[in-house]
Amino acid sequence: MTQPFLPAAFPFARPRRLRAAPWVRRLVAETTLTPADLVWPLIVHDGKDDRIPVPSMPGVFRLSPRAAAEAAKEARDLGIPAVALFPNVDPAIKDGVGTGATDPDGLIPDCIRAIKDAAPEVGVITDVALDCYTDHGHDGVLEDGRIVNDASLERLAEQAFIQAHAGADVVAPSDMMDGRVQAIREALEANGFQDVLILSYAAKYASAFYGPYRDAVGSAKQLTGDKKTYQMDFANGDEALREVAMDLSEGADAVMVKPGMLYLDVVRRVSETFRVPTFAYQVSGEYAMMKASAANGWLDEDRAILESLHAFKRAGAAGVLTYFAPQAARLLGA
Ligand code: PBG
Repeated sequence: MTQPFLPAAFPFARPRRLRAAPWVRRLVAETTLTPADLVWPLIVHDGKDDRIPVPSMPGVFRLSPRAAAEAAKEARDLGIPAVALFPNVDPAIKDGVGTGATDPDGLIPDCIRAIKDAAPEVGVITDVALDCYTDHGHDGVLEDGRIVNDASLERLAEQAFIQAHAGADVVAPSDMMDGRVQAIREALEANGFQDVLILSYAAKYASAFYGPYRDAVGSAKQLTGDKKTYQMDFANGDEALREVAMDLSEGADAVMVKPGMLYLDVVRRVSETFRVPTFAYQVSGEYAMMKASAANGWLDEDRAILESLHAFKRAGAAGVLTYFAPQAARLLGA
């Protein structure tokens, strides 16, 4: 935005007048943060324990379907509109094409049904990608050492269909294959799921900050090589706009930038250019970094959380996926 008017110079201008007391700071605040801005990512698992702590993400637990349903009730009570599900499945079911991703009685369909039973008013967002189900840890199908795009699309479209069928409100492809939004939109249309939303991880970067998540879902050990042939190069910003344009033209309702805090320039450009709901993901490494310094007494955790989440709003985000969601909602007085 251009500055239409330059204020008077000192001493007529004294910007501190607008900061002098809490009431005036509240009155002139340019952005607000409420629990309605938050999405709570839940790591779910198919083991027998209800809650298993994730060592690299203090305060985060792998949840059974039953515990996920309890978490959804907590989200509802805190005013958090939606949860996003990520699976940690038994390594014994992993294979080259991620068969588990399209099992209608698999972990994610179970969790969707449990949540919809317990707290039907909470939106359920599911991750469309194969990495949690493949023995090589990649998001697509691997053939001769390469991730093959078009063969992956069929698997992803089927996965999204299975999730919609189980009751997901939003399918969120995080795989970064070309054309996956179109493939998923066509599969949804063809099967009567035209009202299911697609939130595409349109600008998803190949990032070091997914490390703790890969521990949490158990995809770290398997991963052969890196994801640089499909996730974006962190040197690029214009390319994010092309990815977003493409996903919107293929039928995405909303888009995401990931990671979040390190990519606020991209959040700003996307939200300003396209004027569509733009989400940002404060990813596992960003969470772990803040938790670790707070645990050492180097950061005031509560203040750091609110400041970091406000930054997303200032950059133009419609909402933020954050592991801090319940804690932040409580800090906001929920
Ligand atoms: C991949 C996926 C990733 C995350 C969620 N889904 C990244 C990856 O492993 O490449 C990361 C979430 C986080 O770090 O919090 N389908």
